[in-house]
Amino acid sequence: MSKTYKIAVLPGDGTGPEVTREAVKVIQVAAKKFGFTLQLNEYDWGGDRYLKTGEVLPANAAVEMKQHDAILLGAIGHPEVKPGILEKGILLALRFALDQYINLRPVRLYEGVETPIKDKGPKQIDYVVIRENSGDVYTGTGGIMMKDTPHEVAVQNMLYTRAQVDRCLRYAFEYARKYGKKARGVGPDNTLALVGKTNVLTYVFDLWERAFHEMGAKEFPDIKRDYYHVDATCMWMVKSPEWFDVLVTANLFGDIITDLAAITQGGLGIAAGGNINPHGVSMFEPMGGSAPKYTGKGVINPLAAICSAMMMLETLGEQTAANAINKAVADVCKNKVQSLAAGKMGYNTQQVGDLVAERI
Ligand code: IPM
Ligand code: MN
Repeated sequence: MSKTYKIAVLPGDGTGPEVTREAVKVIQVAAKKFGFTLQLNEYDWGGDRYLKTGEVLPANAAVEMKQHDAILLGAIGHPEVKPGILEKGILLALRFALDQYINLRPVRLYEGVETPIKDKGPKQIDYVVIRENSGDVYTGTGGIMMKDTPHEVAVQNMLYTRAQVDRCLRYAFEYARKYGKKARGVGPDNTLALVGKTNVLTYVFDLWERAFHEMGAKEFPDIKRDYYHVDATCMWMVKSPEWFDVLVTANLFGDIITDLAAITQGGLGIAAGGNINPHGVSMFEPMGGSAPKYTGKGVINPLAAICSAMMMLETLGEQTAANAINKAVADVCKNKVQSLAAGKMGYNTQQVGDLVAERI
């Protein structure tokens, strides 16, 4: 009996549906080739549905999602909806409801892809950012007091519990052990670096730093530990990305540095991520947004969505299929597409999907 995975597909807004279509095409081909089955259930959650019904997410959304093995998301964001409503109401709501406390963002430059960083190539740009995905200013604690008076106060708390920090660190150390540069045969060590701001945020990053070294010394003595301030990290990401192996950081810093990282790996046409609950249902998404101005034009690059779907298969345990997709994407980057930028690929969205699919 072949294995069947139940996948919730959330194409979402703008160009989300067109890139998701290509990702689904590729994983269907992989499923057939490597002997597993995908049962896909599509949901229309997003801006259009919200404008029609006034509802951002149905009340049973989380329950519904929990009946799946994984979620494949396209993009969320609609030009006619005020910023924040859909992002918080759908994307963040699902991350929290499903307790997807890890945001995994590989930063890998494929051969043949142009990076804005002079003199750096695939050997130098090859690391992973593990962004904590459940705490920090994203919890929404705080508020506005004395609104519209000269004494108005706004507070938004950077909140972390030791348990939140520990579970993220444990995932990061285990990840470094399994996929670090030594494990992959491309470096002498498996290194986990904490990215923080211990010189100013002396409460939150004191907690992170203590937890990091305590856990590392006790449970992961084989993993080399490093530390970088977040501002310096931005500098090294451009100047010496080869220093990095696995980085772990808090939610907001992770959000910011992964956009910088994405552009060094060729931009939003290729950058993928996973919102992971290691013990539950994870959700995979390209890092790019809904790009409303390109909607329906067939110019947007589906590789980021395809790479997200590849991460999904990897997380589900279909490593061979994921490897085959990775190889196909690498070949398309090296030998086919002229650029990863929208409208400059030399192919349309569907053709890029076909190029990957036919290489599997
Ligand atoms: C991301 C996005 C989201 C975030 C937004 C859309 C809520 O920027 O996934 O990085 O801040 O996490
Ligand atoms: Mn972001």
